Amino acid sequence: MLFENGRKRGDTVSGYKVAILGASGAVGRMMVKVLEERNFPVRDLKLLATERSAGKKIDFHGEKLTIEVAHPDQFKGYDLALFSAGSSVSRSIALEAVKRGCVVIDNSNAWRMEPDVPLVVPEVNPEELENHRGIIANPNCSTIQMVVALKPIKDRFGLSRIIVSTYQAVSGTGLRAIEELKSQSLHMLNGETKEPEVYPYPIAFNLLPHIDTFSENGYSREEMKMINETRKILKDPKIKIAATAVRVPVFYGHSESIYIKTIEPAEVIEIRQVLSKAPGVVVYDNLEKLQYPMPNLVEDNDQVWVGRIRRDLDEDCGYHLWVVANNLRKGAATNAVQIGEELMKRGLL
Ligand SMILES: NC(=O)c1ccc[n+]([C@@H]2O[C@H](COP(=O)([O-])OP(=O)(O)OC[C@H]3O[C@@H](n4cnc5c(N)ncnc54)[C@H](OP(=O)(O)O)[C@@H]3O)[C@@H](O)[C@H]2O)c1
Repeated sequence: MLFENGRKRGDTVSGYKVAILGASGAVGRMMVKVLEERNFPVRDLKLLATERSAGKKIDFHGEKLTIEVAHPDQFKGYDLALFSAGSSVSRSIALEAVKRGCVVIDNSNAWRMEPDVPLVVPEVNPEELENHRGIIANPNCSTIQMVVALKPIKDRFGLSRIIVSTYQAVSGTGLRAIEELKSQSLHMLNGETKEPEVYPYPIAFNLLPHIDTFSENGYSREEMKMINETRKILKDPKIKIAATAVRVPVFYGHSESIYIKTIEPAEVIEIRQVLSKAPGVVVYDNLEKLQYPMPNLVEDNDQVWVGRIRRDLDEDCGYHLWVVANNLRKGAATNAVQIGEELMKRGLL
């Protein structure tokens, strides 16, 4: 641990000094809300962003806090920093914050695949936190909900193959994309056109099989993130995974159609039972009652919802699942705050 300011772990009076980098963004605002909802013991909350948002106010436990411009010395004396400002900022500031005594939980892609940075979903691999050296990475939103649903199945029946197609909400791209979907929809319903600014094509009334940039192998970086991060989190570098990531005109909530091959055969009812007992999972799977997960069910909650569980008609040990979760909450802010809670529980903060 790189603490240089003499602060010892657990050296807090009552509550922690917490900073949020990217506090004005879609994830940052949700972090403030989730810290409040979960009553995380915060003694002092500092909100950081750029000049664009400096001076704006955000409510926390009834107090109006002012956003300030981020610079490395802002982290001095703080215990915990939640980063959600993109990977280039994270690369340039995270180590500076660690040097000044902070534990950083980073939501960007900057540190996730570094071998000595734990990539953590508390329901799946909390033990990895024991090895942290100042920076902990929050996985990609689509990866988080997939591993929460698949880890219990892997533990019970083994997993050899995953094929996933995602249906990702625009809030996954941030506040500008939420505005783009709103205004494009209004314009199109009025028979007008509006040039896209955030995405290369209109997202209203459309689907884009394109998230992040494309790699040379034909997969998008979002798809490769799901593949590489899942292997790291499940500690299974050989598991076969293919992903297709699609942006859809939904504001909040990512959905995933997941095909898995288990190693041991399972009855569908056994998969349901395993998932019903799994932390963070809601099994919502009753076709007679038309119960299946949808994005509008996850707007205000942190669970990973699983339904449409069924056997493949041709492949032995093949099963299909439909998995939905709120990308801003469990896919980002809640997972980060849960990591903070787990650090506290383990005496690592
Ligand atoms: N949205 C999701 O569902 C989701 C899920 C998982 C991970 N993430 C990751 O979380 C990060 C933020 O995403 P978002 O959706 O919240 O984006 P967003 O709505 O566009 O917000 C970006 C935030 O970063 C701040 N920022 C940008 N450049 C900065 C700089 N140089 N210094 C300090 N602050 C800076 C912005 O401040 P200003 O307001 O001052 O510009 C704003 O607060 C990204 O890395 C994203 O990949 C997002």
